[in-house]
Amino acid sequence: MSIPFAKPLINKQDIKHLNIAAKSQWISKGKYVTNFEKKLSNYLNTKYVGVTSSGSSAIMLAFLILGLKPGDEIILPGYGFLAAANVAKTLGLKVVFSDVDLESYCVDLEKIKKVITKKTKLIIVIHLYGNMCDIEKIASFCKSKKIFLLEDSAQSIGSRFKNKQSGTFGDMGVYSFTATKTLTTGEGGAIIFKSKKFYKKFLLYRSYGYIKERYYCLVHGHNLRMSNLLAAIGYSQISRISQIERKRKQIYLQYQNQLKQKNYTLQKFNKNVSAVPWALAIKLHSNFTQKKRNLVIKKLKKV
Ligand SMILES: Cc1ncc(COP(=O)(O)O)c(C=O)c1O
Repeated sequence: MSIPFAKPLINKQDIKHLNIAAKSQWISKGKYVTNFEKKLSNYLNTKYVGVTSSGSSAIMLAFLILGLKPGDEIILPGYGFLAAANVAKTLGLKVVFSDVDLESYCVDLEKIKKVITKKTKLIIVIHLYGNMCDIEKIASFCKSKKIFLLEDSAQSIGSRFKNKQSGTFGDMGVYSFTATKTLTTGEGGAIIFKSKKFYKKFLLYRSYGYIKERYYCLVHGHNLRMSNLLAAIGYSQISRISQIERKRKQIYLQYQNQLKQKNYTLQKFNKNVSAVPWALAIKLHSNFTQKKRNLVIKKLKKV
């Protein structure tokens, strides 16, 4: 038996809500969608929240709302997860990568400044493995330069920088609820906004470009909605999110205590961050050869 990357925590209560949604016959749109959004809004302490079919679709929506066009320049971390870069490439955006800090695996303002140009329209940060970057500094810099900031918080829901939730510092923050994530709906995501104007645009783009008047498209929208069935699971999960967070922290501590060796260092968390760890990352020291690394991987697969 190999150690699973993450086991989804689906309990009886989640299944109960899923059943209620299924039996209600409202399986696409429905009350669970709006109720899940309300709960998320409370939890994140932010007003404008919308759920989506995935974290990637939340990112796609962010780009559409900003009206980014082919050739527009955006900055992304050179290390992280490829979702935002892939969406950007699909839309023909020019992606400029910034280095990340080798201990925290997140970008910092100095590294961003090295690649910024007059053409930069958007900066995306990825709060990796539950850690968060020095987001306060980056957010105030973006504000002063009038550059949009998107936080990719897919891996860091629940982590807080000076007690403020990951994703709530930028103009927009996105989350993913895919199977391995802290809060999971199977597939799914969410996006939050500072401005009402963006939120209104989001409602259009998420649903074919129309809301009230059916088939009367105001923009070229898509179907990037979350179904009522999956929102029922999300609604149930967020009701016990503090329990899930505690469990993640406990598991991380267990690994941390067991992994005290000199051959590698664990990811360094930002001192202002109270993290909900998402994955455990280690950096091998230079004396730890590729051969030895592969041996460890091989052995772990046999556990
Ligand atoms: C940092 C990051 N961004 C974006 C995504 C994309 O989310 P999804 O898989 O829900 O499309 C992921 C997901 O796995 C992620 O880890």
